[in-house]
Amino acid sequence: MNVKIKNNVFWVGKVDWELKKFHGNEYSTNHGSSYNSYLIREDKNVLIDTVWLPFAKEFVDNLKKEIDLKKIDFIIINHAEIDHSGALYELMKYIPDIPIYCTENGVKSIKGHYHQDWNFKPVKTGDKVTVGNGKELIFVEMKMLHWPDSMACYLTDDNILFSNDAFGQHYASEYLFNDLVNQNELFNECIKYYANILNPFSKLVEKKIKEVLSLNLQIDIIATSHGVVWRNNPTQIVEKYLEWSNAYLEDQITLVYDTMWEGTRRMAESIAQGIKIANKRVNIKLFNAAKIDKNDIMTEIFKSRIVLFGSPTINRGILTTMAGLFEEIKGLKFENKKAASFGCYGWGGESLSILNKNITDSGFELINEGIKCQWNPDDESINNCVNFGKVIGNI
Ligand code: FEO
Repeated sequence: MNVKIKNNVFWVGKVDWELKKFHGNEYSTNHGSSYNSYLIREDKNVLIDTVWLPFAKEFVDNLKKEIDLKKIDFIIINHAEIDHSGALYELMKYIPDIPIYCTENGVKSIKGHYHQDWNFKPVKTGDKVTVGNGKELIFVEMKMLHWPDSMACYLTDDNILFSNDAFGQHYASEYLFNDLVNQNELFNECIKYYANILNPFSKLVEKKIKEVLSLNLQIDIIATSHGVVWRNNPTQIVEKYLEWSNAYLEDQITLVYDTMWEGTRRMAESIAQGIKIANKRVNIKLFNAAKIDKNDIMTEIFKSRIVLFGSPTINRGILTTMAGLFEEIKGLKFENKKAASFGCYGWGGESLSILNKNITDSGFELINEGIKCQWNPDDESINNCVNFGKVIGNI
């Protein structure tokens, strides 16, 4: 069933309440997601993006109920990733000659995925296409936000920016619009999406937003490809992106660790106690990386000004949860953060030097050499951890 966005623009996408993992198993979606596709019905009928592959047939069947597919004049694919282009192959069975507007890189990506030589119409920033009733769609390349092919398009007169992934969030709702959903849930999903997907491209985010703002386009609605349509104060999410893209941090210290026989956990809790003694205002959070969702931890790291990483030594290394976590952290390119390490050991005690190398390789500023404890912490070791926490709390 369609949802009217404004005048002759309709949402024809799919809300996916069942989604728990996205990007394979890389991204947790605690509130599901949606794949937003839009149909513009002016003199020209225009379809913007499709849905994820598993819903291809359902999408096309529903679209047929909205419009005779042969009356669609052209398709815009803002981004070729499968969650948006996934129904293209099914759709093109019915309208194989229809023009597909996308970037040059979009042509390469779509061909790379579907191995078809469809009727591509490559576009660049500033290119326009007429949709009728005096309205035009203007294309804006969004290269590396977050794929080389990404773009947005802007519908004049209705003042709708179809931003694709940008400003989206993995959030299923029956109500579609930003003013109709729980604001805490919405913004928690927005910041998680930014931290886990867009943060590596923060410099480009800031540059692109400033470029779009310099065009002085009036933006009444931002119609993303995931989650809500921003119709109430739509630029609030743009302002958030400007904030998040500028080496964002809050007054938060996060301890992330894994533990074998509870020694490293006790160290974490004692360090946290010391931080609290030294600083009553800072937000302190502890996460066992083996038990807490990886992407939620990334979001907390994104918000933190200091992160402490803990692992006992095992086989002259660190626990695999922590090693895996650093693989993610390095890719996300966090900025403006300090860090230190801690961990128990029995004999070798190599975990701290490995954690410290991971910390510097991840672009964090190493505060000190960290603190280690042989075997399980005794009273003296606990006291040393509290004192270590006080040092951290005073930073
Ligand atoms: Fe929502 Fe980059 O795909």
